[in-house]
Amino acid sequence: MQNNIPIHSTADFEGMRKAGSLTSRILDELEQLITPGISTLEINNFCHKMIIENDAIPAPLNYKGFPKSICTSVNHVVCHGIPSQKKNLQNGDIINIDVTVILDGWFGDCSRMFVAGKTNKKTYSFLKTTYECLLIGIKNAVPGKSLGDIGYEIQKYAEKNNYSVVRDFCGHGIGKKFHTPPSVLHYGNLGEGPELKPGMFFTIEPMINMGDWKIKILKDGWTAVTKDKSLSAQFEHTIGITETGNEIFTLSHNNSDFPIKPL
Ligand code: MF3
Ligand code: CO
Ligand code: CO
Repeated sequence: MQNNIPIHSTADFEGMRKAGSLTSRILDELEQLITPGISTLEINNFCHKMIIENDAIPAPLNYKGFPKSICTSVNHVVCHGIPSQKKNLQNGDIINIDVTVILDGWFGDCSRMFVAGKTNKKTYSFLKTTYECLLIGIKNAVPGKSLGDIGYEIQKYAEKNNYSVVRDFCGHGIGKKFHTPPSVLHYGNLGEGPELKPGMFFTIEPMINMGDWKIKILKDGWTAVTKDKSLSAQFEHTIGITETGNEIFTLSHNNSDFPIKPL
């Protein structure tokens, strides 16, 4: 699964830039929208409309039977939460919103955490550390390093802060398909896996739990939750490896990659 990592051309970077840019622009709009009382279905509908209006396609919709256009994962939901009219955000809830668009055939995949209303110190530092895990992963995604170095550094930082790294889901190659090689683990060992090369496109999307890393899938077949009901958080970017480092395709347009106000 780690062989056959596609190497993309300069022209392909331009396609990813456009798809990534739309993805992050949608997430930028959500900061104002996410307040106590809103349902996750309303967030889904807002994103769906904005994706369609920009001549793009919501990639999750009907993907392997997923029923909605985005994933909304609240509190102890790790990932793949299904938007629902019945799920209204309460003050202090934390939510991951994961948006994937297809624009001119190219996939942009990005997610951020938001807080409905106000959070507390303990949760704020958990969210901050999770975002830093993503940044550490990106910092290590440079030509000459191994894929495994990314996971190793993320795991080291998360565990130093007494959090755990989810094992059951990983980042993925991306481009003209949603999921391609390589699998980008958010844990592991230095020097393992293939060497990173210019032209590789993949996501880094560590899921970090406040308690144990073990998860289970609910009966809907999608919603992943922490077994111990502890909080889970995640941030995701889509990047491309360049000659000198990497390019982040899904950067916020208003510096809101971490859209949570300090306490
Ligand atoms: N966007 C998710 C990812 O980061 C995948 C969602 S697939 C879905 O890979 F079917 F759950 F929407
Ligand atoms: Co992804
Ligand atoms: Co995603």
